[in-house]
Amino acid sequence: MTDMREPMQAGSTGAGSTGAEAGSTGAVADPDRVALRPRDVRFDWTGLPMHWVPGDPFTTHLLNVLHLLLPEGERWFVEVFTEALPMVRDDRLVEDIRGFIGQEAVHAESHQGVLDHLTGHGLDPEPYVGQVRWLFRRALGERDFVGHHDAQRRRAEWLVERVAGVAAIEHFTAFLGDAILNSSGLDRSGADPTMLDMLRWHGAEEVEHRAVAFDLYQHLDGRYLRRVRQMLVVAPAMGALWVQGLRFLMANDPTGRRRPRLRDALRLHRVYGLPSLWQLCWSFAPYLRPGYHPEQHGSTSQAVTYLATSAAAREADERTGR
Ligand SMILES: [Fe+2]
Ligand SMILES: [Fe+2]
Repeated sequence: MTDMREPMQAGSTGAGSTGAEAGSTGAVADPDRVALRPRDVRFDWTGLPMHWVPGDPFTTHLLNVLHLLLPEGERWFVEVFTEALPMVRDDRLVEDIRGFIGQEAVHAESHQGVLDHLTGHGLDPEPYVGQVRWLFRRALGERDFVGHHDAQRRRAEWLVERVAGVAAIEHFTAFLGDAILNSSGLDRSGADPTMLDMLRWHGAEEVEHRAVAFDLYQHLDGRYLRRVRQMLVVAPAMGALWVQGLRFLMANDPTGRRRPRLRDALRLHRVYGLPSLWQLCWSFAPYLRPGYHPEQHGSTSQAVTYLATSAAAREADERTGR
């Protein structure tokens, strides 16, 4: 528990407001551009309890869904961005995309240890992860359009469509990253400090690189209607996948079969400082504004402050000589 709460408070105080205000209002000026880089973090899950938010299987599994859902999505991001990179004609954006790819590649692998831990303790996530894998690798994977007379144009359109999809998903990963950085109630509840550090390291890097996918989409295409259309597909799909993952984990929890209850969801904001159900449901709305840009929400300063004090990020930097 040593320094888990300090970075959040440091980030929030630096913004001159509470953490939640600093993150979600977009009122924080973030003047500094961050050079994005991956951190080779390691986590030891040996002593992780099944309900790492003590006495709260609902919130534990609500957050555990991220371990099941994100890695396949992040591998897909890396694939899509690697395909798009040769089309970019802006050196600064190229640099950002390389940093983004590096960070997402580490994110995708970092959750595997939690999946192994769950499996080892009687909760096999594969039935759900298999569906997510099919979605990203098959339904949304690369297509060559062989046999179509305009295969090259179709391939390019499919790529841009997927970049627009990544940009919409990254709106939510930044929202969630900001939320987990500002959820001081989780510390007060005695939630496992290693798990909190993992979620906040990941969340902080999501906040750090929150504009890259959007900027890439604007660079390659930028049509407003396509951006909105993708969000109107992505938002309900992510909501449905998350609810499905939560129901799966609660139904297969080895300590007892449970079902998510509305009253558990209503405690998220009051007890843990996480977004309320209302805020979660409407989190997509700012993305629909024509003048939207990801840097209007969240605080790079807070993310950088957290990463400077994160136990896992510091250990990674020491190990890799940074
Ligand atoms: Fe990520
Ligand atoms: Fe991301």
